[in-house]
Amino acid sequence: MEAQQLREAFIEFFKSKGHAQIGSASLIPENDPTVLFTTAGMHPLVPYLLGEKHPMGRRLCDFQKCIRTGDIDEVGDASHLTFFEMLGNWSLGDYFKKESIGWSFEFLTEHLGFKPEQLAVTAFKGEGEIPRDDETADLWRSHGLKDDQIFFYGREDNWWGPAGVTGPCGPDTEIFYDDGRPKCCDECGPSCHCGKYTEIWNNVFMEYFKDENGRFTPLKQKNVDTGMGLERVCSITEGKETVYDTSLFTGIIGKLEEISGSKYGDDTARDFRIVADHLRAATFILGDGVVPAKVGQGYILRRLIRRASRYMSKLGYDGIFMEQVCDLIVDQYGPNYPELIRAREDIKRNITAEEEKFHKTLSKGLRRFNEMVSENAGKEVLDGEAVFRLYDTFGFPVELTDELAREQGLKVDLDDFDRRFREHQEKSRAGAEQTFKGGLADHSEETTKLHTATHLLNAALRNLIDPDIRQKGSNITADRLRFDFNFDRKLTPEELKSIEDYVNDAIRKDIPVVCREMPVAEAKASGAIGVFDDKYGAIVKVYSIGDISSELCGGPHVTHTGELQGFKIKKEESSAAGVRRIKAVVGKFD
Ligand code: SER
Repeated sequence: MEAQQLREAFIEFFKSKGHAQIGSASLIPENDPTVLFTTAGMHPLVPYLLGEKHPMGRRLCDFQKCIRTGDIDEVGDASHLTFFEMLGNWSLGDYFKKESIGWSFEFLTEHLGFKPEQLAVTAFKGEGEIPRDDETADLWRSHGLKDDQIFFYGREDNWWGPAGVTGPCGPDTEIFYDDGRPKCCDECGPSCHCGKYTEIWNNVFMEYFKDENGRFTPLKQKNVDTGMGLERVCSITEGKETVYDTSLFTGIIGKLEEISGSKYGDDTARDFRIVADHLRAATFILGDGVVPAKVGQGYILRRLIRRASRYMSKLGYDGIFMEQVCDLIVDQYGPNYPELIRAREDIKRNITAEEEKFHKTLSKGLRRFNEMVSENAGKEVLDGEAVFRLYDTFGFPVELTDELAREQGLKVDLDDFDRRFREHQEKSRAGAEQTFKGGLADHSEETTKLHTATHLLNAALRNLIDPDIRQKGSNITADRLRFDFNFDRKLTPEELKSIEDYVNDAIRKDIPVVCREMPVAEAKASGAIGVFDDKYGAIVKVYSIGDISSELCGGPHVTHTGELQGFKIKKEESSAAGVRRIKAVVGKFD
C-alpha cells in the first residue's frame, strides 16, 4: 500500500468510527512559544485537549505535517527524518483505552494486513504517583496478543508529552512491527535499537497536565491522542527497507540523481537522503511563510538549506538546483497540502536567494576549513576564532562546522565560539545576545520576554486606547510578538508612541512579575483578564505586573519587567474586519 492509499484508508477508517477529518495545521505553532515547530498531530489541538470545545466534535482525525529537528544528525539512516507526516485520531473527552486499542488493532490487522503475531506493544509500568497500566495490557490480551508481545516500560519510554515545556501528557501504549527475526539478545524488545522492532503507532492516554514547575495534575477530561508516522508505516506496507526507498522519496531522489549525475547507492545513500529530507522540510517551512533568518524558525530553515547545499556538493554537483526540487515536491504534495501550491513562487524565490548566497562562499569556506584542519594538526579541538571566521565570512552555521570537524575526528570549542559570537554581536550593536540565544541555542529566554511584553502591550491598549479591547490572537516567535485585538480603525502614530512609552515606562520601573495559582472563579472575581477562560482546568495561574496587568496565563514570564530592556512597535496593520494587529520586539534600542 502506497502513501496516498494509506492516508485515505486511515481517514476513511476513522470516519467510519464517527470521527471528523480536520485539516493539517501550520508548521508554526499558533500559541505555544516553547517550541519552534509543530512536532505532533496533537500540537494544534492543545486547547481542545485542555477542555475547549472543538467545532468539529469530540472525535477527530487528520494527517498533520510535522518537523522535529532534535535528531537532525541522524537523518540519512533508515528511519530518521526532520519533516514527516503524522496520521492521528483523537478523543476529546469521549472514548478511552478500550475503543482506542480496539480500533488500532482492527485497522492494522484488517486494513493494513498486519498479522497479530507481527505486533509488539508496550504499556506503562508505573512510576511515582502514576500506577502500572494493567488495563492496557489486558485490552491487548483480549485481542489475542500473547504476554511475550506485551512489554512494560517506565516514564522514559512509555510516557508522552507535553509537546513543549508545559501541556497535556500521559502514559501511552506504543505499537511496533516485529519483522520476525530472532531477538538480538535476552533484553531485546521494542526499546532495543537492533532493527527487529519498528515503531508504527503511539496511543497516548492523555490524562495529565504538566505545569512549569514540573507538577502533574489530572486533566478535567480524559483524552486519547494517537500518532502514526506515515513514512515508517509506508516502508512496511510497501515492503521497503528504509523510509527513503518508499514512494514518498523515489521521485525526489530520482530528481537529485538526474541533477547531480551521481547514482543513489551504498556509498552515496546518506548524502542523497540528507539532501532529499532537508529540501522536503525546507519546502514545507517556506510554504508556511518562514524565510531564512538568524533566529528562530528562520535559522533552522537556513541550516537545512545550507546543509543540503553542502551534501549536494559532496555528491559532486556544483550548481544552483534547489528550486527544481521544490517544484517537484510542490507537485507531489500539493494535492494534500494546497498551501504549497499557493506559495510555490515564494518558496522557489526564497530558497534560491538563500542557496545563491551560500553557494558563493561554500567552496572557499570548505577550502578554508581544510587549511584550518592542517593548521590544527595534532590538536583535538578547533579554536573558536577559526570557527567564528567560518561563520562570519563564509556563512557556515556553527553546527555545520561542528559536523565537518567531527568528520575529521576534531571537536569545536563551542564555548569559545559563543563568547566571540556575543562579543561580535555586542560590537555590531545588533542587540543580540538574544539573537544568539534565539538562533543557536535556547530560544525560550527570548520568547519568555515577549510573553511578558504581550501582557504589557495588552494593558497599554486597554488603559490608553479603549478598555473594551480584548486579545483576539497572539503569536510569539523567537524574534517578535504578534498581537491581534478588536478595534475598528488604524491607530495614529501618536497613539502608537504613547503605547510604546507606556510599556517602556513599565520596563524602566523593573516591576516584579508575580504568578499566583487560584480557582477560576477567584481569578475572575479578582478582575484578572483572560482569553483562555476554562482552558486550563479548575486551578489557573494569574500573572500580575504591579497594578498594570493581571492576566490568566500559562506562562512562562520573566521575573521583572526590566529584563525586557526595551520595547518597540514594528508594525500596526489590519488583521481581519474589526481586528488590528501589532508586531513588536523587545531588546536594547538606542
Ligand atoms: N503525540 C503522540 C506522539 O507524537 C501521539 O500522537 O507520538
